[in-house]
Amino acid sequence: MILLSGYYSDDLIEEIKRRNDIVEVISEYVSLRRAGKDYVGLCPFHAEKTPSFTVSPDKQMFYCFGCQVGGNVFTFLMQREKVEFGEALQMLAKRAGITPPQAASKEMVARNQARERQLHALVLAARYFQHCLQSEAGKEARAYLDQRQIDEETRTVFRLGWAPPHWDALLQALGRRGVKPPDLVAAGLVSPRRDGGYYDRFRGRLMFPIHDRQGRVIGFGGRILGEGDGPKYLNSPETNLFNKRHQWYGMYLAKDAIRAQGQAIVVEGYMDVITCHRLGIKNVVASLGTALSQEQARSLAVMAKEVVIAYDADAAGQRATLRGLGMLTDQGVRVRVAQIPAGYDPDSLLREKGLAAWQQVNAGALPLVEYHFQIACRQFDARSVEGKARIAAQLAPVLARLQNAVEREGYVVWIARELGVSESSLVSEIRKALRGQTGKNTHRYRKIRNNEGEKDFATRSANLPEPAVSKAEQAILQAVLADPAAAEKVWERLEPEDFPTCREVARVLRKEYESRPKAALRVDQILAGLPEGETKRALMGLLFRDGSFVAGNELAQPIVPWLDDFINTIIVHRMKERLHEIQAEITALQNQGSKIPHQLLAEQQDLNRRVKEIRRVPV
Ligand code: UTP
Ligand code: MN
Repeated sequence: MILLSGYYSDDLIEEIKRRNDIVEVISEYVSLRRAGKDYVGLCPFHAEKTPSFTVSPDKQMFYCFGCQVGGNVFTFLMQREKVEFGEALQMLAKRAGITPPQAASKEMVARNQARERQLHALVLAARYFQHCLQSEAGKEARAYLDQRQIDEETRTVFRLGWAPPHWDALLQALGRRGVKPPDLVAAGLVSPRRDGGYYDRFRGRLMFPIHDRQGRVIGFGGRILGEGDGPKYLNSPETNLFNKRHQWYGMYLAKDAIRAQGQAIVVEGYMDVITCHRLGIKNVVASLGTALSQEQARSLAVMAKEVVIAYDADAAGQRATLRGLGMLTDQGVRVRVAQIPAGYDPDSLLREKGLAAWQQVNAGALPLVEYHFQIACRQFDARSVEGKARIAAQLAPVLARLQNAVEREGYVVWIARELGVSESSLVSEIRKALRGQTGKNTHRYRKIRNNEGEKDFATRSANLPEPAVSKAEQAILQAVLADPAAAEKVWERLEPEDFPTCREVARVLRKEYESRPKAALRVDQILAGLPEGETKRALMGLLFRDGSFVAGNELAQPIVPWLDDFINTIIVHRMKERLHEIQAEITALQNQGSKIPHQLLAEQQDLNRRVKEIRRVPV
């Protein structure tokens, strides 16, 4: 049976992909073995003796570095079995036990409708709680908010509310508006009773709606008033919409400020976010759990070059926190840790000591390495030989994780001097740390060590070449592939013509962006729409090459905090090319003894000035 691909819904195609792991499918044709996070084997599409055929479980894609054929599970089958898309889809549907495809898409429609009802229930619940806060029943809660100096406007902005202390207040109120209990269960707002029936999850609590990035309510935190019994905060359970690993509290209000300032402040509590916001500090978010997750780190890294951690004094020192911060540096984010005075959190500091005290704390926030160093020095005696060894060992993995060579070098020099040890012994500690680490920057160190010997590490790393234009091009396009926000930024400033080494790919991605701005790129569909050839191979190469930012088929987040720098590299390159042209023209005119037009000189002057302005200042 052969059918056109347009016949199938995206949902169905996604579902079939999800249910057919590419590694498993390809294993039925090729013998694969694990190599790092990917699998490799002998390419079924060309003759080879050493495996260059790579299958990525993360990306759910394959790519052969030898013959440069690649694609997803559908394209694999199409090429291997020499069938049309529709037939490959039927084969995979059958393999996953989905029969017939049409029934599955009905299922998807049903699931979408359930999701819409769930979102609707959440909004109505937020409105109901807001209403309760305004009503007679909310008197005590209002007094509590007054006492915490949360004014009317702030209450409205954060849509704060009050859940009455009854077992069925929400059930009743939303029931009157046609919301069915099962949808409230799915939304995490009510629970089924063991003996039938349902009860409200949140009772007698101040309600903090949790919004996703688009400002849709996806969950709640509920605080008891004052110091009563039970957990201080009760949060929504994880649901299909509310996934704590992926969310930041306050992000929908903070994202513009974070992007504009290139800095995010991460606090612990709902109250901290709210008070900061009230006092005009808008680039503030709270993580919704004790430890930062990889997903949270990634989503922040896209938006901010710098993250200031403003946790309570005791919380910041905890191991779990420190580990989380390493994830941010892995993404190339500069992390600083604010020294909040003992006994305060940002909320109480701001309320009791005022903005000036906060700003002072913020300005004095220690870079992560210095912060680690400070902790290590508190743990061990920096004057004894053993203490020095311990401190160096503790700092080595932190240094190894830094992505910026200049910064890393600076710290090697600084710590060596602070401890009174040689830079080379510190470097050999870093080397040890790297042996136990499979981070993506490992190869960079290996190269430095092999070429230069460890002694010169510190000086050498400072002299690493500026990212070449082609590297900048690739990094930028990888960001475009991974994140619609990055795409917007890129296409605001660059044209496909600005990508001399990847022009065709740039054109394809630009066209895609113009037809669906702000949407996540459908790499699969772009690939499917391209004829076999150079452009398609280049695109596959971008997806698979080192530093690839595309994880799975999900809305992946790029790890390009320095996107602006890469863009600037390209723009400077373009300007310099024009400068060369101008110079050549001027020389030619001079040789002819002709007068040089004023316009040309003005352009030259202007370009020179702009190059100087834009030229990257090393961080
Ligand atoms: P805090 O205890 O610091 O809360 O916990 P807070 O936001 O400063 O609240 P106030 O100032 O006492 O009113 C920090 C965060 O940890 C989570 C919440 O997200 C809270 O904002 N938390 C805390 C819970 O989820 N459950 C709890 O029982 C306590
Ligand atoms: Mn607090």
